[in-house]
Amino acid sequence: MPESVHAEPLTSAAQRPLNLCDRLQITHLSPQHPSAQTQIDPGLAVISGLSCTPKTLPAQYFYDDRGSQLFEQICELPEYYPTRTETAILQAHATDIARLTGPCELVELGSGSSTKTRLLLDAYTNMGLSPWYCPIDVSGSMLKQSAIDLLEHYPTLNVHGYVGTYEAALAALSVSPLPTRMICFLGSTLGNLNPQECQVFFEQLTRSLQPGEYLLLGVDLQKSTAQLEAAYNDSQGITAAFNLNMLCHLNWRFQGNFQLEQFQHLAFYNSAEHQIEMHLKSLCAQQVNLLALDLTVALERGETLRTEISRKFDLAILQKQLQYGLEIGAEATDQGCPEPTKQLKPLQTWTDPNHWFGLMLCQCQQR
Ligand code: AVJ
Repeated sequence: MPESVHAEPLTSAAQRPLNLCDRLQITHLSPQHPSAQTQIDPGLAVISGLSCTPKTLPAQYFYDDRGSQLFEQICELPEYYPTRTETAILQAHATDIARLTGPCELVELGSGSSTKTRLLLDAYTNMGLSPWYCPIDVSGSMLKQSAIDLLEHYPTLNVHGYVGTYEAALAALSVSPLPTRMICFLGSTLGNLNPQECQVFFEQLTRSLQPGEYLLLGVDLQKSTAQLEAAYNDSQGITAAFNLNMLCHLNWRFQGNFQLEQFQHLAFYNSAEHQIEMHLKSLCAQQVNLLALDLTVALERGETLRTEISRKFDLAILQKQLQYGLEIGAEATDQGCPEPTKQLKPLQTWTDPNHWFGLMLCQCQQR
């Protein structure tokens, strides 16, 4: 008899904890995936942004490997309050959230390093539940590493990750093995979308959810200009490096020749629009080429490229907009759009004692 038979602990198959690999599945969604058909080519978004007045660049290009590292550093900065404030709210209320939803599959949009997710996984595990987690991220290496770390830490966890854009992954999600599911969209990434894009996004989320399922949304709230501007102009210059790194990424991805020394980081609060704007200011009159896009852009001295908007929300208005946006969808039925039969109903909101950041739990309901 082989030795290993004696070495095996005397547990039944059902009791034996499954291998890490048995609990991990990763699906790579190519842009050609049928679920992603509506997506525009990423190069086209760069071309159209640079053809706008004022010129813009898509914020997704912050996140190459170096950019993702710089963002992790931003989250640790003394001036950058959002990450630690949201973490504190989750620390205080993850148990409340788990109690409200009951056993639940967690789907996370833009999972990154999955640090905040652990607070939710702890809450569900403490209820005696085996959690299921579906991280969705464009960075495959980041997703795989965080998934392995989580599986090592939570012996009953199952992970099904999707590498791709939110749009593609939401359309491709398989049926949850648990009674319900919660889509988590944390870190105020929602703030990168303008109001119109935001509405389209909510409509897509609503389509992806079954009645009874949940959305957990983390948003940065309106506050003093001084505090907001400090958070995006840190004294160590990490945010400036993060902003400028986008040009490096574009140089690499599209054979560009942006010269980083010829640009300056600029971040200010546009109080009329309730948004932080990050720009890169051209320090001289110059031409930039992106060979792979067959594109030449002329920049005047002092002209800026807007790389990001980061909207700051009012919780009461956001709750109304969730409903209002979907009512606009209802009007569109006259133009032949499918009638929205579901809505996202805000159930409960939590904030920190300073009201700097908000966490909102919504439920998808039949109209
Ligand atoms: C990840 C988009 C929420 O807007 O605060 C941090 C990104 N930009 N510092 C934000 C960011 C500059 C961040 N989001």
